[in-house]
Amino acid sequence: MPALKQRHLLVWYATHEGQTRKIAEYICQQAQGYVVEWCLLNETPSRQLEQYDRVLVAASIRYGRFPAVLRRQVSVHHESLTRAQAAFIGVCLTARKPGKDTAATNPYLRKWLRASQWQPSLCAVFAGALRYSRYNTWQRSIIQLIMWMTGGSRDTSQDIEYTNWASVDEFATAFFARK
Ligand SMILES: Cc1cc2nc3c(=O)[nH]c(=O)nc-3n(C[C@H](O)[C@H](O)[C@H](O)COP(=O)(O)O)c2cc1C
Repeated sequence: MPALKQRHLLVWYATHEGQTRKIAEYICQQAQGYVVEWCLLNETPSRQLEQYDRVLVAASIRYGRFPAVLRRQVSVHHESLTRAQAAFIGVCLTARKPGKDTAATNPYLRKWLRASQWQPSLCAVFAGALRYSRYNTWQRSIIQLIMWMTGGSRDTSQDIEYTNWASVDEFATAFFARK
């Protein structure tokens, strides 16, 4: 029997408290038959991007922005990303709100897409997590202020995960279904 060709998936990501990684791991549960390479966005993957069967680029929002390393990598690799089977996911707390939970309606995603040299053919935004237990004093105060302004939880004794896993599932199905 001929050996099945091994398929390769690159997860190229950045995370602070781990929620983006957790979402990417969830997506990878659907990566049946793929060898998964995990690479931080500030590092270089082991192959050319076009040599992967799938590339998932993932990053979260802090203080209204994706990390600068995302912009840098996209500006260097946008042509390869366009040629590759590559998708992008953004993670932020704003996406917990109905009406701000798609790439077309989320203000951070819209802004990023307007400026990006790479226009991913598949793109999504997911709500992240409030991890008061992992923030320093400054971050806790900032997040409490944002939560006060946007009607979220200011109770620092509790972490809350807002990620809609059904939406992540849907994204994963679309990501792996493409030719
Ligand atoms: C210091 C700090 C600033 C943040 N700024 C924003 C923000 O401007 N807008 C937003 O929607 N979410 C913001 N978030 C929420 C994060 O995007 C969210 O917690 C996400 O789950 C983080 O994912 P990560 O753990 O993969 O980095 C902020 C979180 C922290 C800790």
